[in-house]
Amino acid sequence: MVAQVLSRCFRCVRLALVLYILVAVLYTTHHLFFNLVCTAFKSLVSSLSSPGNSWLHFPFSRSSTYELERPSILSDSTEEHTLFWESVGLSPNGELLRDKVVPVNAERLLSKAFANTMRPSKIVPYYYKATGVFSSDAVTITTLITSDRFTAFSRLVERYQGPISVTIHVHNIKEHLQELLHSLHDLYISSDKMSKHVDVHLVLDSFDRQFNAWRNIARFFARTDFVMMLDIDFYICTDFQASILGNKSLLEKLREGHTALVIPAFEYANYREGTNPAAFPRSKRDLLGLVKSKHIRVFHSFWVPGHNNTDYEKYYSAQPGDIYKVTTYQSNYEPYVIFKKEGPPWCDERFIGYGGNKAACLFEMYLSGVSFYVLADHFIVHQNHLYEEQARKHERAYNRKVWIEFQEETCLRYIKNYNESGLIATPLANNLRDECKKKRRVRKLVAPLLDT
Ligand SMILES: *[C@@H]1O[C@H](CO)[C@@H](O)[C@H](O)[C@H]1NC(C)=O
Ligand SMILES: *[C@@H]1O[C@H](CO)[C@@H](O)[C@H](O)[C@H]1NC(C)=O
Ligand SMILES: *[C@@H]1O[C@H](CO)[C@@H](O)[C@H](O)[C@H]1NC(C)=O
Repeated sequence: MVAQVLSRCFRCVRLALVLYILVAVLYTTHHLFFNLVCTAFKSLVSSLSSPGNSWLHFPFSRSSTYELERPSILSDSTEEHTLFWESVGLSPNGELLRDKVVPVNAERLLSKAFANTMRPSKIVPYYYKATGVFSSDAVTITTLITSDRFTAFSRLVERYQGPISVTIHVHNIKEHLQELLHSLHDLYISSDKMSKHVDVHLVLDSFDRQFNAWRNIARFFARTDFVMMLDIDFYICTDFQASILGNKSLLEKLREGHTALVIPAFEYANYREGTNPAAFPRSKRDLLGLVKSKHIRVFHSFWVPGHNNTDYEKYYSAQPGDIYKVTTYQSNYEPYVIFKKEGPPWCDERFIGYGGNKAACLFEMYLSGVSFYVLADHFIVHQNHLYEEQARKHERAYNRKVWIEFQEETCLRYIKNYNESGLIATPLANNLRDECKKKRRVRKLVAPLLDT
C-alpha cells in the first residue's frame, strides 16, 4: 500500500520534472532563436531601407510608431539607446566578416560627435521625421529655432519646396518642456508640408545659444547630399533649388566639395515693411526696383564686412543665369551658402552665442579650400524682428577673444595638414595661403610655406 503510494508520487514528480525541462528548453531556444532572427531581420530591413547609409541605425529614426507625446524619450534623461554598428573585419583565420553587428551606446557616440558643446545636454535626433522622399541632390535647409520663432518657421516650411532639417533647443525644465512639446506638436500637425518635409531634432539643456553646435546637429542629421545654412528669419524669395538641380555643371561643382553657393541677402529699410513677407519681391526685377527706390538694401549694411564681399554692384548688373566667384574674401564675411553635406569642415562649437559664430563656420570652410560663388538670379530677404541686445553685448566680448585664437589656430592646423599631405603648393591651398598670410603671428611661424 505504502509502496504503491510512494511509486505514484514518484511518477508524479518525474512527470513534473520532465515537463519543467521541456518548457525550459522550449523557452530558451525560442528566446535565442527569436533574438537572432530579430537582429538579422532588423539589419536586413535597415540596409534595404537606407542604401549607401547603412552603417549606423538610429533607433529614433527607425520606428515610425511612437505615440504622439513620446514621454519616454524625454522624461527619463538617463535612458540609454543602442545603435547597431555593422562592422566589417577579419576573423582570426583571415576570413572577411561583414555581418558583425556591434551594439554602440547612442548617447556616448553623440557626446563625442558634438564633443565641444557644454554638458549636460541631451540630443534627440528625428523627434519628428519627415515622410517625404527626396532626391539625394535636393538641398536640405539646415536651421535652428527657439519657441518664439515658430511663426517664421511655418512660413519657411510653406514656402520651401524641399527638405528641412531643424534643431530646436528646449530648456530642460519640466513645465517648459511639456508646454513646448505641445506647441511643437500643434505646429507639426498644422500643415502637410511640415510632416512631409521637416526633420526635427531636439536639444535639451540649459544653454541658450550654442548656435554652432545646433547648426552641426541640423547638418549631421540632414538626409540629402547638399545643405544650406540658413537663419530662420529669412524669407526664400526665389527657387534656387530648381536652378541648381537643373544645371548639371553646377551640381558637379557642388559634388566635388570645393564650392559654396551664395544666395545674396537683403533687408527692408523700414522695419514695418520688413514684417510683411506677403509683399516681399519674388523676382530679381522687382528686387532691383525696390533697391533703386531704397526700400530694400544689403542685409545688415551697418556691418559692412558681413556681406559686402558678395559684391552687390556686380550682382545688380549680372545677366540672367550668371554665377560669379567671390574674389575679395575676408574673415568676417558670413553669407548664406549651399554646400556639400559631407566633406567641408563643421562649425567650431566653441562659439557660443552672438558674435563670429557663423563667420567661424565659413572661415574654416574657406581655409580648407572651399570657394564662394554667387547665384546672381537669386536672393533672400530678412523678416524683421527685435534682437536681444543685452545678451549680444556680453557674448560678443567673449567670442572676440575666441575668434582671434581660433583664426590663428585654424591657419596653423591647416598649414600643417596641407604641408604634410603635399598640398600646400596646390590650388586647393590658395585660400589658405592668401588668408593666413594676413595673420602676423602665423606669418612669423611659417612664412616659407605661405610663399610657395
Ligand atoms: C550652370 O552653371 C555654370 C557654372 O557651373 C554656369 O557657368 C552656367 O551659366 C550655368 N547655366 C545656367 C543655364 O544657369
Ligand atoms: C566692400 O567695401 C569696401 C569698403 O567699403 C569697398 O572698398 C569694396 O570695394 C567693397 N566691395 C567688395 C566686393 O569688397
Ligand atoms: C613641411 O613638410 C615637410 C615634408 O613633409 C617637412 O619636412 C617640413 O618640416 C614641414 N614644414 C613645416 C614648417 O611643418
